[in-house]
Amino acid sequence: MKDLRLGFIGAGFIARFQAEALRNVRGTQLAGVYALKGAEELAAQAKKAGIGECRVYSSVAELCKNVDAVALLAPNFVRVELMEEVADAVKAGAELKGIICEKPLGRTVAEAKRLVDLVEEAGIPNAYFENQLHMKCIQKALQQLEPQRLSMGELTLARCSEEHSGPHEGWFWDPTRQGGGVLSDMGCHSVAVAWYILTPVGKPLTFMEPVSVTADVALLKWGQEKYRKQLLARMGVDYAKVPAEDFATGTITFRNPETGQLVRGQFTNSWMYDKQGLRLLMDGLGPGYTFEVNTLRSPLEVFIGDEAAEAVLDAESALEKATASRGLLAVQPNEADLYGYVAELEDAVAAFTQVRAPLASWRYGLEITKLCQAAYMAAERRETLDLTDGNMQAKLEGYTSLIAQGKGAEVLM
Ligand SMILES: NC(=O)c1ccc[n+]([C@@H]2O[C@H](COP(=O)([O-])OP(=O)(O)OC[C@H]3O[C@@H](n4cnc5c(N)ncnc54)[C@H](O)[C@@H]3O)[C@@H](O)[C@H]2O)c1
Repeated sequence: MKDLRLGFIGAGFIARFQAEALRNVRGTQLAGVYALKGAEELAAQAKKAGIGECRVYSSVAELCKNVDAVALLAPNFVRVELMEEVADAVKAGAELKGIICEKPLGRTVAEAKRLVDLVEEAGIPNAYFENQLHMKCIQKALQQLEPQRLSMGELTLARCSEEHSGPHEGWFWDPTRQGGGVLSDMGCHSVAVAWYILTPVGKPLTFMEPVSVTADVALLKWGQEKYRKQLLARMGVDYAKVPAEDFATGTITFRNPETGQLVRGQFTNSWMYDKQGLRLLMDGLGPGYTFEVNTLRSPLEVFIGDEAAEAVLDAESALEKATASRGLLAVQPNEADLYGYVAELEDAVAAFTQVRAPLASWRYGLEITKLCQAAYMAAERRETLDLTDGNMQAKLEGYTSLIAQGKGAEVLM
């Protein structure tokens, strides 16, 4: 069978990470890229890594004409316009076997809904990229515990967090472009993986029904004058005027529609986690059994003393969002695999070559957007939101959080 020719729209941080992951994926090659910046560098990376003769295209339309599937890997604030261009390209004759969208699907429920409408009207098979569902640690934990889940009863509590010291580009920090702060950016991961952990054996991703949500958002580090100034100088975003949350936590209650049992998923996310680098921490608790994942634990530890630190490599070669280049460093030898990027690409390739349906579609991404936006609404109103209330869906559709509107000072200060 011929390789699936994949095209990237966007050539920044996640595109480079996915290109790294592609080295471990069979049946596909990176055939093209379109991006405002970084396309030539990405094409060179692809050639060097042997993952494809990646050509640089000057428009979405040109890219779509020359590849089998595309991945939307550009910032959140250009998602809809880029998808409109993909849909136009398909109308003009491009034959796409699939399209990938990175998380979060939309910055608001209305935006996520628009994306689902566009992709379904264009008739393109679609995959929503939530890498944490594909993490081998999570998959293995759930498989290993299957006998206990079936005999003792399912997991009743999932606690999921993703934390690091803050994003790498200014647009992530700007709530009006990104869609909020850390809850929009990383809460979508933790909410999704908590829901997934709580899903009974053999049931679909959205089987457990969301019943209610509570949430709390705060600006703990980057609102302080010293750090606000740093942020303004480094990222060009002024948290004195347009702040976003750097900490978010909350609980979602889910109901099993067959048994009526209620279970809880907790999420905690921050951009103020100053340890060695990115940490994903998840645990699942069931009656008589438990699992725990902590990505800062590695079989590999490297120590670099002060005297030797002069000759150190770029800190990020140890770990995503690394904050230190000396001392005792946790080093992950294959982050692309650890975080689930390899497995999510394999899943998309299988889906677009008609082997099986993808684990997560854009419709699922819309459900995640709804839960994250409901969490913003719960935090803003300081109340537990009843997700079974018939009017709530309509309210969420017209909702943009105060933080995303640039009015974060009303909530955070
Ligand atoms: N799954 C994950 O763990 C993960 C990690 C990082 C980012 N992401 C997601 O990936 C997306 C991109 O994030 P990033 O960190 O790569 O951002 P980035 O800023 O590092 O890179 C963005 C890329 O998109 C290009 N771009 C911007 N506007 C464009 C336009 N109108 N047309 C074409 N190209 C355009 C830029 O030139 C750049 O190449 C975001 O939605 C983000 O949420 C996911």
